[in-house]
Amino acid sequence: MNKKKKYVASENRYQKMNYRRTGNSGLLLPEISLGLWHNFGDVDNFKNSRNLLKCAFDNGITHFDLANNYGPPPGSAESNFGKILKKDFKSYRDELIISSKAGYDMWPGPYGDFGSKKFLVASLDQSLQRMGLDYVDIFYHHRPDYDTPLEETMSTLDLIVRQGKALYVGISNYKPERAKEAFKILKDLGTPCLIHQPRYSLFDRWIEDGLLDLLENSGVGAICYSPLAQGMLTNKYINGLPKDSRAVKDSPFLNSTQVLEMLPKIKALYEIAKNRNQNLAQMAISWILKDDRITSVLIGASKPSQILDSLKATENTAFSEEELDKINKILT
Ligand SMILES: NC(=O)c1ccc[n+]([C@@H]2O[C@H](COP(=O)([O-])OP(=O)(O)OC[C@H]3O[C@@H](n4cnc5c(N)ncnc54)[C@H](OP(=O)(O)O)[C@@H]3O)[C@@H](O)[C@H]2O)c1
Repeated sequence: MNKKKKYVASENRYQKMNYRRTGNSGLLLPEISLGLWHNFGDVDNFKNSRNLLKCAFDNGITHFDLANNYGPPPGSAESNFGKILKKDFKSYRDELIISSKAGYDMWPGPYGDFGSKKFLVASLDQSLQRMGLDYVDIFYHHRPDYDTPLEETMSTLDLIVRQGKALYVGISNYKPERAKEAFKILKDLGTPCLIHQPRYSLFDRWIEDGLLDLLENSGVGAICYSPLAQGMLTNKYINGLPKDSRAVKDSPFLNSTQVLEMLPKIKALYEIAKNRNQNLAQMAISWILKDDRITSVLIGASKPSQILDSLKATENTAFSEEELDKINKILT
């Protein structure tokens, strides 16, 4: 009988990765974490999704980031992740930090979106069921909701922790002013906010304008998403548009016009990366990790080789003043 071999994680998995403290908390996160927004849906190749997770974990990536709506179709990334957890990672649950989120449109009617208690509680219950988990390590409110009282959303996060359905909570996409209010409410409730998940890359630096200082002063960690601007900050578009890339594959989030507009900047940044003996993806990630207020960089990947490539960024996170000046000039 041809019995399939059970996955055994690499013995060396903790030798290559650095782990950073998340704000003032007790939780350490890997400098690079893996997000499951793309490449884990029912439309994707299950074997490849499985290989992505194994490759990540074998190299010290202990944190996998999900959300209720990841797929497509929405929910399918969590279901597929649940299947892979059961097949390959059952005995590693206590070595993993698994997050999910709710805040975007998930099901029809008035209770399937935004930030009400009704939505968040039901959504997390569905996420846990899809993933076959008793709890997630981090549960996020995915985006601010200005129509629901912040007290209601934050007290729901506190409730979820008290119910044992999440160990820590975070917020995502909140601007500094709203984030500050959220941190205060959570602190008063006795469930301090662990982490903020903003978008941050060489092409999108809004968090330098107040948010990073707030996070540092509040003892809250930062995990930055889309560090490669969805693949634009890599070598892949320099010589044309590859057929299997996100920009060409009919993605509503990145198209070829966007890439072509940014191409002069991409090429100029690529020259700086070359002088640092890095490729552009590595330099883009190193550039984020140079700031020790950042806990983790949240990458996406369509191939295991991309994970291995991006991981090399952690080996060179120092930048000279001259390099930073040149980068700033390109970006202005
Ligand atoms: N909180 C939020 O609102 C929010 C929003 C968006 C994302 N996120 C989280 O952040 C994670 C990452 O976001 P993202 O996918 O936009 O991140 P990203 O790292 O900016 O882009 C990932 C894409 O870049 C390409 N890539 C990755 N590594 C590469 C390498 N070394 N060389 C060449 N190309 C490379 C791949 O594109 P190809 O497919 O073209 O190969 C990959 O799918 C998500 O999975 C999710 O967990 C959160």
